[in-house]
Amino acid sequence: MKFVEATVNDVPALHEFEKKCFHRPEDQFPTRNLRHLIVSSTSLTLLVKDESGKIIGEVIGLLRHFKIPSGRVYKIGVAPDIQQRGMGSALLQKIEEWFVENGMKKSCAEIRENNKASRGMFEKNGYTEEGFLPFYYANGENGIKYWKNL
Ligand SMILES: CC(C)(COP(=O)(O)OP(=O)(O)OC[C@H]1O[C@@H](n2cnc3c(N)ncnc32)[C@H](O)[C@@H]1OP(=O)(O)O)[C@@H](O)C(=O)NCCC(=O)NCCS
Repeated sequence: MKFVEATVNDVPALHEFEKKCFHRPEDQFPTRNLRHLIVSSTSLTLLVKDESGKIIGEVIGLLRHFKIPSGRVYKIGVAPDIQQRGMGSALLQKIEEWFVENGMKKSCAEIRENNKASRGMFEKNGYTEEGFLPFYYANGENGIKYWKNL
């Protein structure tokens, strides 16, 4: 699997990809946010593209220089027609490599309580549930905080 670092030229296509991948409009980042994340030095957006150049997977990671430096998996998504074939896990492992290269000791993610696929993927990749975030999302849904030692 080939991972490419997103550039600002990818923003329009990435925004379209998010509309297909994330059902809730509030989970689809506006183009200005995507642009900001792509140019920020404390964030990395990695993409997987098919042979025609179409985006089929994305992961966005953030570096957090807390007392214990910790990476945050800010967003991860795989095209609906190719889910459950390992791409989500591959994207997650790739962003964890970047966290380690940048001195991060831990990795974390916040996930909707009802997002079984995402919770299953993080758990399969060694993340453990370490916090409950009541009414965390705009629709009132609870969040679950996951952590992993890198
Ligand atoms: C979450 C997501 C990225 C997972 O990507 P993926 O490529 O399907 O993940 P993988 O193939 O690596 O799956 C790894 C494990 O996750 C779990 N899993 C994945 N999809 C699942 C599903 N639909 N139901 C239950 N468990 C699931 C399984 O344990 C799976 O292991 P298995 O294949 O051995 O059973 C993908 O479902 C997605 O893009 N969802 C929409 C966007 C989203 O919700 N993103 C996360 C919140 S930011």
